[in-house]
Amino acid sequence: MAIRNIVTDQDPALRKVCRSVLNFDERLAQILDDMADTMYEADGCGLAANQVGILRRYCIVDVGDGLIELINPEIIESSGTQVGEEGCLSFPGEFGVVERPMKVTVKAQDRTGKTFTVTGEGLKARAFCHEIDHLDGIVYKDKLKVNG
Ligand code: NI
Repeated sequence: MAIRNIVTDQDPALRKVCRSVLNFDERLAQILDDMADTMYEADGCGLAANQVGILRRYCIVDVGDGLIELINPEIIESSGTQVGEEGCLSFPGEFGVVERPMKVTVKAQDRTGKTFTVTGEGLKARAFCHEIDHLDGIVYKDKLKVNG
């Protein structure tokens, strides 16, 4: 378990389309554990692998009701809209208004490679969308709503 450095601002890792995870091994487990430590230490509710310099498709989310690890995540269903303030550990101290779906269902794998689906509403849906965007090199600032 260790705190990893979170890349910020203009770091090219934030702009990379990350590659699928193929090996569900000890290294993956180690990085996931480190990411959780790093996210909680920074008081965040989500963190994507490329934010700690790992260009692979996985992220973690915890909006206060437990840690969710999403490996090779895909949004398979979304509905509704919500408009609200969003921040990102890679842009400390900054916030912006972003429109997101109100509810999304994500299909992903767990750290052992087992496939599952998880549905989130409200803040959890927002966090899922934000983190999965990271894996495609997209940050919330690309989606700011002008005039809030
Ligand atoms: Ni972020």
